[in-house]
Amino acid sequence: MTYFLDNVERTAGYEPGFQPQGSDVIKLNTNENPYPPSPQVLEAIRNLPAERLRKYPPPLGDGFRTAASQVLGVASDWILCTNGGDELLSICIRAFCDTSHPVAYPNPTYSLYPVLARLQNCPVTELSFDDPKVLDQLAKTQAALTIVCNPNAPTGQLIAAEKLGKLAGKLKGVLLIDEAYVDFSAASCLPLVTEHDNVILLRSMSKGYSLAGIRFGFGIAQPAMIDGLLKVKDSYNVDAMAIEAATAAIRDQPYHRVCVDKVKTERTRLTDELRKLGFEVADSESNFVLARSVKMPAKDIYRALADRNIFVRYFALPGLEDKMRISIGTPEQDNRLLEALRAILAAK
Ligand SMILES: Cc1ncc(COP(=O)(O)O)c(C=O)c1O
Repeated sequence: MTYFLDNVERTAGYEPGFQPQGSDVIKLNTNENPYPPSPQVLEAIRNLPAERLRKYPPPLGDGFRTAASQVLGVASDWILCTNGGDELLSICIRAFCDTSHPVAYPNPTYSLYPVLARLQNCPVTELSFDDPKVLDQLAKTQAALTIVCNPNAPTGQLIAAEKLGKLAGKLKGVLLIDEAYVDFSAASCLPLVTEHDNVILLRSMSKGYSLAGIRFGFGIAQPAMIDGLLKVKDSYNVDAMAIEAATAAIRDQPYHRVCVDKVKTERTRLTDELRKLGFEVADSESNFVLARSVKMPAKDIYRALADRNIFVRYFALPGLEDKMRISIGTPEQDNRLLEALRAILAAK
């Protein structure tokens, strides 16, 4: 006897990355930023008047919308504040998909998409990211909602905005471009929201702004699209403290740029060092790399690292079994990872 709908009963829930505790842990498994948030974020939280906690927060997160609109150069009614980028995904699936309105996306990608689709009971078309014609295939699919993660997770690859613009022009449905990692990439798809009324961009404050613990993300789209999405979100989906923190973070662009540049420099070094150890590592436009192990099963390396309190992400999913996704850490953290990998490979 179950109380749950069939599709909920059948769904294996999303499995969040392991959150190890302890001070001697090297945590490179959930793509957090290795650097702390801007000092201005902490100051904003400390200075939050009790009155702001007593009252409900502004439903649209006005302070953040204004600050983000200045940074991004779009009007504030083009911005939808959400409880993490994840909430925008869930809002979009609920707004556009049901049993007769499918979702489509290229795979491998963010493993939350299929979970949300199953919970919404909508048909899913998964196409291969390796197919050079994948964007044509997506256009042919004509799903109600097409999601492209760009740069993609867990591969780190970036599709040119121009190509996604062409795709948007061919689709009758909505194109959601998941730009959770865009702060680490060479280009964004921001111009596409002006050109196409069916494009929504997803942004996250978790990665580029070191605020994964706060839960704040946002969507960018034309005002008519934002108005529709507002109907689907919870009334007070972002809390007063999160609005304050995210606003301070996005305002402090100089600090943000320094942290992002450090991560990008370290990404180049870690990629080179992993290649020297014999891993196949594609260039990444994100704050992680995907390393294919040729000398030893990736799962065994993942376990041996965990035994040493070093956590990377292993996905037991088709096409990913021989790979590990490694978040870019500080140079010191990455040195400990590299040392451990040398020892593990030498002992095999
Ligand atoms: C591809 C992708 N999209 C969206 C998100 C959501 O990020 P958040 O909810 O932390 O803003 C993540 C988080 O890991 C992600 O990897």
